Order: sequence, then C-alpha cells, then structure tokens
Amino acid sequence: MALINEHYLKLKAGYLFPEIGRRVKEFSLAHPDKKIIRMGIGDVTQPLVPSVLKAFHEGVEEMGNVATFKGYGPEQGYEFLREAIAKNDFEARGVDISADDIFISDGSKCDTGNIQEIFGLDNKIGICDPVYPVYADTTVMSGKTGIYQENGYFEKIIYMPCNEGNRFIPDLPIQRPDLIFLCFPNNPTGTVATKEVLKKWVDYAIANKSIILYDAAYEAFITDKNIPHSIFEIEGAKKVAIEFRSFSKTAGFTGTRCAFTVIPSELVAYDSIGNAHQVKPLWMRRHTTKFNGVSYPVQKAAAAIYSEQGKKEVKEVINFYLENARIMNQSLTSLGFKVFGGINAPYVWVKTKNNMKSWEFFDKLLHEINVVGTPGAGFGPSGEGYFRFSAFAERANVIEAMERITKLFE
Ligand code: MLT
Repeated sequence: MALINEHYLKLKAGYLFPEIGRRVKEFSLAHPDKKIIRMGIGDVTQPLVPSVLKAFHEGVEEMGNVATFKGYGPEQGYEFLREAIAKNDFEARGVDISADDIFISDGSKCDTGNIQEIFGLDNKIGICDPVYPVYADTTVMSGKTGIYQENGYFEKIIYMPCNEGNRFIPDLPIQRPDLIFLCFPNNPTGTVATKEVLKKWVDYAIANKSIILYDAAYEAFITDKNIPHSIFEIEGAKKVAIEFRSFSKTAGFTGTRCAFTVIPSELVAYDSIGNAHQVKPLWMRRHTTKFNGVSYPVQKAAAAIYSEQGKKEVKEVINFYLENARIMNQSLTSLGFKVFGGINAPYVWVKTKNNMKSWEFFDKLLHEINVVGTPGAGFGPSGEGYFRFSAFAERANVIEAMERITKLFE
C-alpha cells in the first residue's frame, strides 16, 4: 500500500496565489466584458532587456552548432556566471564571496523550500508573520511542524509578528529558533532592514548557533545607500547565514528561471552529538544528486546583466517599477490609506479602511472596480486587515487602477 507524506494534509487547502487566480478566473468567466487589472502576484511585465536577449539568442545559437554545443553543464552553475556574481554583487560592495560558494538554480522559491532538506527534522523554524508563504508551507511539508491551529499558526513554528508597532521588523524571539527565515526588502510588507537591524540578527544567530536563511530576492530595488543589499555586508554573517538571490525580479526572469544561493564555506551546523559540519558540502551533495543545472542559454543571458550596458538597462526597468510603486504610494496616501513599503521595494503594503478584512477588501476591489491585489491575511494572521499591491505592472494599468480606487474611496 502506497502511503502519502501526511504532512501535506496539514497544509491549508491551496497555495495563496492559485487561490487568488481561482477567484479572479471565476469572476472573469462570469463577467467576460470587464477589464481586470492584476496587481496581485509579483510577476514582472516588462520584457527581457536587449543585452540579456542578445546573450540568450547567442546561447541558443551555440547550442545549435556542433563546435559550441553543450550537454550537461556543471550542477553548481557555469563558472562565468558565478564569477560575474561574486565580482559584481559582492566584491563591488566590499564583500568577499568566493564563486565556489555560489550555487546557480532555477529559482529562489525552489531554493528556500529545498534548503530545508539538508537540515534535521528537530530544528525549530523562526518565521515572520506576515511572510512569503513558501517558508511556512515547506516547513510543514518537511515534517517539522505540528497541526494547523485555529489561530492561523502551525504548532512548533516560532512566529515573529511584524506589525506597525515594530515597523514590520521582527523582534528577537523569546523562544530560540535554529533556522530563521528573514526577507529584506520584505515580501509582503516592502520594509527594508538597516545594517543595525541585520547586525542584531547576526549576533543573535552567532550566540545561539542558529542559521539565518536570508531571502534577498528584491535587493535590486534598494535605492537608499545606507541599506545593505546582502546580509554578508554584516560582520560575522558568513558564519551564520545563507543568502538567496534571484534574477526573477531583478531582470525579468520569472518565466526564464535563474537564481542563486550563497553558502559560505565558514557556515557550520551541528550533528546530534554536537560536532560541527560545513553546510556547503551538504547542499553541493543535494545539488549534484537532484539537479542538473540551469540551461546554458539562460545562464549566458543572466550573465549579461553584469555587462556595463546590461547593468544600465536593468536599472531602467527597476526604476520603472519603482516609479509605479511611487505612483501607487502617492495615490493611496492621498486617499487617506496608511501605506508602507514601496520605496526600496516593489510591494506596497496598505492598511484597509474601517477595519475591513483583507479578503473582504480583495472581493470589493475585484467585484466593484476589477482590480486585483493580494490579501494580507494570505501571508499570515498578522497580515489581516492589510492588502499588498505589486508594482510589477504596466504603467497605464497602474494609473487606471489608481483612478478606479480613487473613485471608489474618495
Ligand atoms: C509574490 O507575489 O509574492 C511572488 O511573486 C511570489 C514568488 O516570487 O514566488
């Protein structure tokens, strides 16, 4: 008799974004004449920039020529890409990360979920609330939690509430987590962490022999010079952190797929009798066993963002999305909404009015003005009463959505 992984039964019915998709589809089938504006899932709308596209085409051409054809690539990723990352994303910021510590992958969603597999089941996981749902759901799938409780929390996860009181920056938890998920610029709240905040977490992790799983997928949206782009800008972090980065939001790769994870050689975790082990070889073992790498043309396309022209082109697209966020921020604020994020981040986090619940607000916008966002409650109980707008939209749609919202609320 085949047995299922029963931990999956603990999960809430569906992943957040398919649930939004389901509601939107139902509405659009019933109202085919309505123009729906989507600002829910953070999926990019602007095409790959010319430098990336050119490199992508060249990579494809190489695959069609016997002299330049490539079969299986290195599981860890091509050295040309890892070297470009080490130089441009880290060395340029004064951070010494070796190309050997970088693992190319097909996405940060996959990596932040899969990373759990190299850590023991007895680890206590610390998660912000609200949070990108992947961290919580994959913790459940891996069997590290108890059941889902009425308060919206899973047993055995250490939740770290983020609210207006702490400016959406988690306080150090009372109970000690072994693995701590942090994400800055934050999804969903759009908050950023200063060096002081990250230093506090790094010191905490060092003192408690914990590991920080740092999701920096949105670092490209940081414009404030004082905000760190990488946790490795903080002294001591290489001993206690793994960092996840992605080309998805930085360079429009949500459909193309390319990301990377950094595991410094200095990082250790412990066996049950307290002996320290390097973490990197475990991830290398997992990667080489279960993954055959990202396709050559995609890695070649990703490397193109590090050329001088590529950097310029990518920056223009980032600025385009940031301008969207600014427009949203301004319109919503002028309507009397409390608005957070959207300055060094592509997400605008809004408090609903009159204590309206997040899903009620979602339905109101969908049904009355055909605008889609993401209900804050979908990211965790502390997200109740909030709503997230994604700035990854076409400019005309952002303007039209804000006009519709203005008519509805002014
Ligand atoms: C989001 O909308 O939160 C993101 O698009 C999800 C993701 O990157 O997987």
